[in-house]
Amino acid sequence: MVALVSTVAYLGLEARSVEVQCQVAAGMPRFAIVGLPDKAVGESRERVQSALAAMGLSLPPKRITINLSPADLPKEGSHYDLPIALALLGAMGIADAEQLADFVAVGELALDGRIVGSPGVLLAALHASEQEKGLICPASQGSEACWASGVPVLAAPDLLSLLGHLKGDSRLSDPPAGEVEEAVYGPDLRQVKGQESAKRAIEIAAAGGHNLLMSGPPGAGKSLLAACLPGILPPLTPAEALEVSMIASVAGTLEGGRISRARPFRAPHHSASMAALTGGGDKSQEKRDSLPKTVRFSLFMANDSGNLVVF
Ligand SMILES: Nc1ncnc2c1ncn2[C@@H]1O[C@H](COP(=O)(O)OP(=O)(O)O)[C@@H](O)[C@H]1O
Ligand SMILES: [Mg+2]
Repeated sequence: MVALVSTVAYLGLEARSVEVQCQVAAGMPRFAIVGLPDKAVGESRERVQSALAAMGLSLPPKRITINLSPADLPKEGSHYDLPIALALLGAMGIADAEQLADFVAVGELALDGRIVGSPGVLLAALHASEQEKGLICPASQGSEACWASGVPVLAAPDLLSLLGHLKGDSRLSDPPAGEVEEAVYGPDLRQVKGQESAKRAIEIAAAGGHNLLMSGPPGAGKSLLAACLPGILPPLTPAEALEVSMIASVAGTLEGGRISRARPFRAPHHSASMAALTGGGDKSQEKRDSLPKTVRFSLFMANDSGNLVVF
């Protein structure tokens, strides 16, 4: 029998559908994961096996094959543990495979069966909402997932309580709604002495959404003036805040599901390359292309050799 569980692969800020297929067939006992898994996904075999053992289950002495489809899309990250375990439980007849088809699952497994946090849960929740499915995620990230409105979220602390909920033996508590963090702004324009024309230029740029280029000797206050900008810009709209939070989510920095409505401010070194700005690595081109407009226009680059550029 083949059991199927939906999950996602993260490509920049995009979550692509990945189907975890599990087949338990007669043959020499083995447990293989195919479908271009990276090292973290390959190691999920050990974590899944230990998590099942912690629940008192041993793998059937059969030929177990996990395929991550589409097979030509590289799979990165530890969030495949939970969907792999659920597909295996479905194929073993312990979980109801039909019920699992209504969910997208993401989460890393600890050896004792706990479901621990993994980056990108907000993206997975938004993806589940598009697919009109529910989301199974780690309990610690339930509030993060709740930002995708209308998605039924099962935030489980461990495999056992998740199975109990799916079978109707026990009930998982609903995750608390995520909080909006109090905006913390940098320096205020009041702190800037003199520089009346520069202050006026900053205000006009903020009001009209214009670009700004400042030029002057070191120490003239360009970086200070630039840091004042987020404080006079309007707070992020809910849609913009969601976009900014998606970046924090894939970066794994959205603590406790708290989102902020303050505009992000970055002052990278003037010699920073595009790869350094967007994270570098194999996917830097994809990451750059998938940076949402809000973020690209919220990047402030303070040039230490004299210039300030606001993208
Ligand atoms: N007009 C000003 N009012 C108050 N502080 C200023 C002013 N100009 C510069 N400073 C202070 O001087 C220091 C250097 O300014 P900075 O903004 O880094 O200059 P720049 O980026 O032009 O090299 C900072 O600590 C800043 O707060
Ligand atoms: Mg400066």
